[in-house]
Amino acid sequence: MKFTTTALTAAMLAGSSLAAPRAGLAERLEKRGALPRQSLPLNKIDNTAEENGVLLKENSGDSNIEYSKNWGGVVREKPPASGTYTAVSATFTVPSPTPTDNSGEMQAASAWVGIDGDTYTAAILQTGVDFWTQNGTVSFDAWYEWYPNNANNFDLDVSAGDVIFAKVESSSPSQGVAIIENQSSGQSVTTTLSAPSTTATLAGQNVEWIVEDFNSGTSMVALVNFDKVTFSGAQAKSSEDEDFGVNDSAILEIQQNGKVLAEVNIQSDTEFDVTYQ
Ligand SMILES: *[C@@H]1O[C@H](CO)[C@@H](O)[C@H](O)[C@H]1NC(C)=O
Ligand SMILES: *[C@@H]1O[C@H](CO)[C@@H](O)[C@H](O)[C@H]1NC(C)=O
Ligand SMILES: *[C@@H]1O[C@H](CO)[C@@H](O)[C@H](O)[C@H]1NC(C)=O
Repeated sequence: MKFTTTALTAAMLAGSSLAAPRAGLAERLEKRGALPRQSLPLNKIDNTAEENGVLLKENSGDSNIEYSKNWGGVVREKPPASGTYTAVSATFTVPSPTPTDNSGEMQAASAWVGIDGDTYTAAILQTGVDFWTQNGTVSFDAWYEWYPNNANNFDLDVSAGDVIFAKVESSSPSQGVAIIENQSSGQSVTTTLSAPSTTATLAGQNVEWIVEDFNSGTSMVALVNFDKVTFSGAQAKSSEDEDFGVNDSAILEIQQNGKVLAEVNIQSDTEFDVTYQ
């Protein structure tokens, strides 16, 4: 039997033959060809969009639900009555992703919170966790991004089942903070970010809680079966120090090739699920 370095390292890291193999960060990046990883603004499906000659549905008939190619979750599309959105946060449990086929190809999805990127597309301040499968290995990355810059990885190990608190907060249109905390251990990582350019400042017009089919290089990664991500304690804040949950927001479901791949179920003003179909 021939063992690759990857398999050996993964087995040693896993510390148990029963645990799913997990590659180290450098190795994972190398396997992915170190392509830049990027979350993108909402790619909404409108009722004129066609895919393979099939007219796509803009919404499900339930006026609250809209379809998009890349975002599943909830977005406050309208700015607060006065002021702008300045913070958004939630807690979620990192899912255990499974590949949708046995091609071994890289598949992934990401759970994150962010400011802007829906009706305002010039910038997004966001942070979250990616879950990947590739050729039998499962890996996770905690990251932050100020779009249109690519994402950067936080130096924080993440595993399936970890309860993660994610938050971004802006102190000005061109300055912000991203925080990821392992709530089970209390271990947290924080970074301050600046707008990548004067044309990529925040407007504070949207806040969102999203599971995304994101980009690796210039193409979308194949969406992995992420089972279910439950966002709880979903909260946004405005510059007037008002609090908002997910009530009175837009619900977005992921639709690709005419199929709904991620469905949203609202539980309360502060909690909802995104479920892989
Ligand atoms: C997948 O993993 C197997 C076993 O570790 C290895 O032999 C094979 O080369 C890998 N394939 C790819 C495409 O990485
Ligand atoms: C997160 O915290 C829990 C509880 O301390 C711990 O079991 C888990 O390993 C932590 N996750 C990582 C990846 O460190
Ligand atoms: C959110 O909406 C639900 C369902 O309409 C309602 O029962 C609840 O009171 C609302 N909560 C807030 C804080 O507005």
